[in-house]
This record gives sequence, structure tokens and C-alpha cells, in this order.
Amino acid sequence: MELEGQLVQNIGYKILITIKWSHKYLKNKRLNNIMEKIGNLDLNKTYLGDCMELAKHLPDDSVDLVVTSPPYANTVSYGHQTMSGANLVYTEHYVSWFLHLFYEAQRFLKPTGSFILNINDRVINGERKVYAFELVTRIVRETGLKLFDRYIWFKKSALPMTGEKRLNDRIEYIFHFVKDPKKFKTNTDRVREPYAEVSLKRFKNKVHGNDIINPDGTTELSQRGSSKPHPLGKKPITVFRFDTGSALRGLKHPAPFHPQLPEFFIKWLTDKGDIVLDPFMGGGTVALVCKRMKRHHIGFETNQAYIDMTEERLRQEERKKL
Ligand SMILES: C[S@@+](CC[C@H](N)C(=O)[O-])C[C@H]1O[C@@H](n2cnc3c(N)ncnc32)[C@H](O)[C@@H]1O
Repeated sequence: MELEGQLVQNIGYKILITIKWSHKYLKNKRLNNIMEKIGNLDLNKTYLGDCMELAKHLPDDSVDLVVTSPPYANTVSYGHQTMSGANLVYTEHYVSWFLHLFYEAQRFLKPTGSFILNINDRVINGERKVYAFELVTRIVRETGLKLFDRYIWFKKSALPMTGEKRLNDRIEYIFHFVKDPKKFKTNTDRVREPYAEVSLKRFKNKVHGNDIINPDGTTELSQRGSSKPHPLGKKPITVFRFDTGSALRGLKHPAPFHPQLPEFFIKWLTDKGDIVLDPFMGGGTVALVCKRMKRHHIGFETNQAYIDMTEERLRQEERKKL
């Protein structure tokens, strides 16, 4: 009788363990599925097609970060069509064309998410076009996204401008939109930079812009401002000195990001496992950086040759790990 009881107990125990394991297995499977899909789309993949259409498949509140640079207005678009039926995105249509993506972004961004838009304007017939500013104004007025900040990318190198009057142009704009300025996430400590020697000296001498200097030369520290350097370094400034993509030799894309640009924003604005979208994936720099930084990527691109390039770059990265 006692033996029978023990047997039943043992079987019961085994059943319990089996249930526990299957539960764990199913939970992991479910988690993996969540991690590998975003709605009906696969993660870590670039889809061929127009981002304006493909973005509609992204679920609400699903993307942590968008980092992207669109094609220029009035540019023959990388050997492929950018708008249905047209090989050029004309300046007059550019803003209304591009605005569609931001309406979608307002829907698919998580409340903690950010949209980083690197854009440049163009000089046409001697006149600098204002479509970039018009676009930003309309995004803010019409889509519900908020402009958190605007940054300048100071390019270390650029082609000299022709003509006598125009100065050499070395900047591009970076606009930072958020869905919710109170909820969007940042990890500023991760992007702090070393202080300059001169700033450290100022900290040592305890002389700050806000200090009151007495007639006898002694200083009283004001309450405002910190009197100690931050142990992890200073906050970056709003002017960036990323390299240009032309520094990447051998890449057959006319306007790729240098990895430094997506790297900075991915580090600052996402955590491991987060989802990063580049709707104009081009040669796949965002995908590559995501792989290196253990984030998931998803991309859209109208040119299959660039998707192949992206896949090849990802395979090369994989081989490096072996
Ligand atoms: C400035 S490049 C992006 C480069 C990219 N950041 C990189 O690192 O390689 C813009 C890309 O958008 C693609 N493109 C243009 N119109 C598009 C559209 N409607 N949907 C998706 N991709 C598009 C172009 O083929 C081009 O490769």
C-alpha cells in the first residue's frame, strides 16, 4: 500500500515537472515569436517596396526608433522609382509625399520612441529650397508628432561649392521627433564624452560662468550649475561631427550613412532587443549597426540591388563573429 502510494507520488511529480517544462517551452516559443515578428512582418529583414505602403503594415505602438535619411527632393532616385509613376520626387510634391510616412509614424511609434530624420536641402537655380523646413513645420502642425530637438551634422569633409558667392556648405540637418516628449526614453549616460582639458581645469579652480567674483578676487559658488565634473563625462553637444558615408570605401551606394550616425542615436535612444526601423534602408547601415548592437532592425527599400547589398553586409558581419 505504501509502495503504491510512493509510486503515485512519483508519477505525480513527473507529470508536474513535464507540465512545468512544457509551460516554459511554450512561453519561450511565444517570446521568440514576439521577438521575430512585428505584426505580420519579419524582423531583421528589409522588404522590397515603397515605404509609404509598407509602413501601413507596422502595428500601432510597435517601433522603438526610426533612423533614416530619405532621397533628396528633385533627385533621380538611385536608379529606381520613388513615387509610383515618377522617377523624380519633385520639390513641389516632396513634402506632401513624405508627410504620409509621418502620419504612419505617429501611429506605429511607441510612446517611448523617437524618429531621427537626417535631411538636407538643395540649391536649385541659385536658390536654396526650403522644403526641409516646410516638411518639419507640417509634421508638427499636422501629424501630432512633436519636434524634440534639431541638430546639426557638421561634415568633416564635403565637396567645395562652385561659384564665387556661395560659401562652402558643410552641414546637414538632423530632426528629432517624438510621440510623447514626457515618455520618450534616452540613455544619456551611455553617450557622455570626455571633458576637454580646459573644462576640467575650470572645475578644479571652481570658477564658473555663474560664480560671483568678489572685489578681493575670491569667488562665491553660485547655487546654479554643478561644481564637479560628471564621473561619466560631459553631455554631447547638439552639433555632431560624424564622418560621411563616402569614407566607406567599396560600398556601391551613392549616399550611405557612416555607421557613426545611427550608432550614436541607437545607443542613446534604445536598449538591447529594441526595434529600429529604416524606411529608406539603402545599403543597410542601420541594419548593420543594429546587428552589432543587438537591436532588431526592419527596413524598406525600393531597389533590390541595395537589399542584396544589405544582406551581404549582414552576412559578412556574421562571418566576423565566427
Ligand atoms: C539616402 S538613401 C539611404 C541610405 C541609407 N541610410 C544607407 O545607410 O545606405 C535613400 C534610399 O531610399 C530608397 N528609396 C527611395 N524611395 C523609396 C521609397 N519610397 N521607399 C523605400 N525606399 C526608397 C533609395 O533607393 C535609396 O537607397
